Amino acid sequence: MMIRYAVVVILFMSSPAFAQDASTATWTPIYEVFSHPRCANCHVGPDNLPMWSGSSYGTKPRPHGMNINAGMSRIGAEYIPCNSCHAVQNSQLPHGPPGAHEWLLAPVEMQWFGKSSAEICMQIKDPTRNGNRTIAALAKHIEDEPLVHWGWTPGPGREPAPYSVAQVVAFLKQWDAAGAPCPAK
Ligand code: HEC
Ligand code: HEC
Repeated sequence: MMIRYAVVVILFMSSPAFAQDASTATWTPIYEVFSHPRCANCHVGPDNLPMWSGSSYGTKPRPHGMNINAGMSRIGAEYIPCNSCHAVQNSQLPHGPPGAHEWLLAPVEMQWFGKSSAEICMQIKDPTRNGNRTIAALAKHIEDEPLVHWGWTPGPGREPAPYSVAQVVAFLKQWDAAGAPCPAK
């Protein structure tokens, strides 16, 4: 019995699946945060539509209500500017507009919404798609940027991003030190 169990364990440990899990373990919690609704709802693609997703928005992700379109400006300059509703602080009313010192979509090349873990992993370390940042600079952005911090103080009724700012900074440093490995898919 013991021997059989040991054989199974050894076979598993030598399988490609285990090797990949072990080598990309430092990436996994970073993906959990980046793909969380509080982050991904603003990190959307070229349709320029902010997303409403996460438990406070019901069961299915959908584009922002009220026909909001951020335009190529990503701040709604072509239509209704985001800051006509999104103030510098969260509304304290349930389903009132969240707020921060500024409110706009992330650039198109920083799209995370709807992308796989492997895709986000590759792009986040690609200087042509990450605002020309080193991984240390990405960690600093997370440490310093109030718009990122909003993800942990999102206002009444919304579930915050997992972990904490300090933990995510530490995760990025660990991932960097491990050589920034990415999953195969
Ligand atoms: C007419 C008012 C209005 C305008 C204009 C507006 N929003 Fe919103 N937005 C809201 C309200 C209200 C909510 C919260 C709805 C809720 O909690 O059910 C919201 C929520 C969001 C969310 C979801 C945040 C989260 O994860 O909970 C994002 C992202 C967002 N808005 C982005 C934008 C962007 C970008 C613009 C400009 C292009 C914009 N909004 C323009 C009213 C507005
Ligand atoms: C209200 C919209 C909004 C929300 C919410 C938001 N971001 Fe962003 N994010 C932006 C904008 C705008 C930029 C571009 C800023 C820049 O490059 O200087 C950006 C850029 C970034 C970058 C830079 C690099 C890259 O390749 O994407 C990181 C890292 C980042 N955000 C992390 C987060 C995390 C983590 C969260 C959730 C905890 C989050 N953001 C939530 C708007 C948002």
